Amino acid sequence: MTVYSIGLGPGDHELLTIKAKRILEESDIVVVPQSDSKGRSVAKEIILNYINKSKIFMYYIPMTNDKEELSRRYQELAEIIRRHCSEGKKVCYVTMGDPTIYSTSNYLTERLKKLNIQVKHIPGISSVNAASTLLGVPLCIKGENFGVYEMPSSTEKAVEFINRHPTTVFMKVDRRLPVLIEAIKKVSPRSAYLAKRLGLEDEEVYDLLNGGAPKEGVYLSIAVIKK
Ligand SMILES: C[S@@+](CC[C@H](N)C(=O)[O-])C[C@H]1O[C@@H](n2cnc3c(N)ncnc32)[C@H](O)[C@@H]1O
Repeated sequence: MTVYSIGLGPGDHELLTIKAKRILEESDIVVVPQSDSKGRSVAKEIILNYINKSKIFMYYIPMTNDKEELSRRYQELAEIIRRHCSEGKKVCYVTMGDPTIYSTSNYLTERLKKLNIQVKHIPGISSVNAASTLLGVPLCIKGENFGVYEMPSSTEKAVEFINRHPTTVFMKVDRRLPVLIEAIKKVSPRSAYLAKRLGLEDEEVYDLLNGGAPKEGVYLSIAVIKK
């Protein structure tokens, strides 16, 4: 039994790979893990450009730190997928960006493997790449490296991370935007941008060094800092 874990890219439906499109089309069931209790899902909007909604199976995984609840949900979803597979259905599940980076797919994949289901990953364009290319800022040039971090909760940690590499990317900035702004004041980097909802209709880019910043943190925002 094999299922596919598909990366959908950052939001623009044209940034899906040809392979991902083919597997979506060939699947009988496309599982969309959804964290919004009202059922809103950017992933669903993307795949509706390629497949009929009758193939989509939405499954709610709440944004919570309750590990038991999350474990129960992933296990239940893995068992649902196994049932479909054993009925001979072709199943795939999708995630925004790349499936191996801060993604629900990582947890689901673990559960499926324990149920002896083989998982094949189809890479997606990560928001890390989408942000750097949109900004036209190289992530690294010869002899350099770059760091990608989940936005820390303390300014000290953020400063430490920025100082480690020529380029630093912070994901999941969201409500920790004030920490980022504070860290930038301390480091005075060459450039610091925040990109919000890349590839979507309300995409926006903020130049954090020149006073540009959203009034409050927004979900789906990523920062690229050049020291
Ligand atoms: C749960 S992680 C998923 C990352 C995803 N797997 C990837 O490879 O981009 C969500 C975080 O990714 C970043 N992100 C994903 N899509 C984005 C987008 N369209 N615009 C800006 N940031 C995005 C944000 O930092 C967001 O908080």
